[in-house]
Amino acid sequence: MHKASENSSSERTKALLNIEDYHKKAKEKLEKMTYDFYSTGSDDQLTLIDNQAAFRRIKLRPKMLIDVSSHTKQDSTNCQTQILNSTMTIGFPCIIAPTAFHRLVDNENGELATVRAAVAHSTIMCVSTNSSTSMERVAEEHRRQIKENYPHSTSKLWYQLYVLKDRQYTQKLIKRAEKNGYSAILLTVDTSVPGNRECDVHNNFTLPDGIRAENLIDKDNNYVSKSYHIPFDPSLSWKDLDWIRSITSLPLIIKGIIHPDDARQAVRHGVQGVVVSNHGGRQLDTCLSTIDALPDVIKAVSNENRQIDVFVDGGVRRGTDILKAIALGAKAVLIGRPVLWGLAVDGTQGVYNILEILKKEFRLAMMLCGCQTIDDIRKNDLVVTNVAYNPSKL
Ligand SMILES: Cc1cc2nc3c(=O)[nH]c(=O)nc-3n(C[C@H](O)[C@H](O)[C@H](O)COP(=O)(O)O)c2cc1C
Repeated sequence: MHKASENSSSERTKALLNIEDYHKKAKEKLEKMTYDFYSTGSDDQLTLIDNQAAFRRIKLRPKMLIDVSSHTKQDSTNCQTQILNSTMTIGFPCIIAPTAFHRLVDNENGELATVRAAVAHSTIMCVSTNSSTSMERVAEEHRRQIKENYPHSTSKLWYQLYVLKDRQYTQKLIKRAEKNGYSAILLTVDTSVPGNRECDVHNNFTLPDGIRAENLIDKDNNYVSKSYHIPFDPSLSWKDLDWIRSITSLPLIIKGIIHPDDARQAVRHGVQGVVVSNHGGRQLDTCLSTIDALPDVIKAVSNENRQIDVFVDGGVRRGTDILKAIALGAKAVLIGRPVLWGLAVDGTQGVYNILEILKKEFRLAMMLCGCQTIDDIRKNDLVVTNVAYNPSKL
């Protein structure tokens, strides 16, 4: 992988400076049905829109006259972030969220292309239950990349679990993740039923031949159909969380928390982390935006006896968004659609560039806010959330 100006593949993408540039380019390249599947949300898409708008409503209050020159050193490690009780280190506080069927946008390599970029950036890739490449194959590529190309990478894989009606099969998925070296289970809890995605209904969305949820196929089971809906279990409850906790010793992180009461419960049920998420606006429309939900969740967990990590996703498109999330108490953000835009535009190189852009923007934001370290972002009281302005008038 190369920096933007260094290779011919990047020549094609040199005008792409930010995530929105990649989004526009991906839209040009993808078939309408695929683009709509990735880009849209549920009902009137108000939550989808508000996830991004809410970041824009938050203002930064930078500090000056602080020496931030250490950021400019070649081996600068100022953006490195420790998570899960310092058991994992990531290159900067940005993780690849689980998203379904990467082979829809990069037919040849799909999730393998994504994992190569994750290794290069020392970050975590969350591999979806709805991955179009099996979790075994992704893990094998992850190991190979580290061994052959990036021996110093601290990248890890997390397995994103949907609890299926068939609990035995669900258990098998967890055991396969353990066996293949996944470092955590990311349990998604906001999909008791699929959201109402009207664009997919209009387009009669179906998976093309050859693309399917590869994790859900083994010699005894085949859950795969042309529909992308897997058999979610609407009976999922806290007691299933206890069951999952009892059958694996991997760290357990739950994704899809919005309400502070749920965050408190999660701590009491022994999880190691929560992701404040509304599934990128694809589930309950008019749900609170995630960055607006974050402060109450942080408050709730900080009042508990045991400390856990809080992550947030939804609408992160700029390095300043990452800085705002950290300033409000998140350990790191997850990004969903930006990775898909990168993948659609230029495969591994595209995902690499997306991470590189966000990392550069994040570092710049740190410097302009007078932050030498990630801890400074937390300590410096940098965000103001109650100042109104109307960006459409600017
Ligand atoms: C096309 C698409 C597919 C997704 N698939 C999954 C999935 O399989 N499992 C899951 O937990 N979340 C899934 N998500 C939600 C993402 O993990 C994440 O919460 C969301 O994309 C974050 O918002 P952003 O796209 O604005 O960054 C999906 C999101 C999109 C857009």
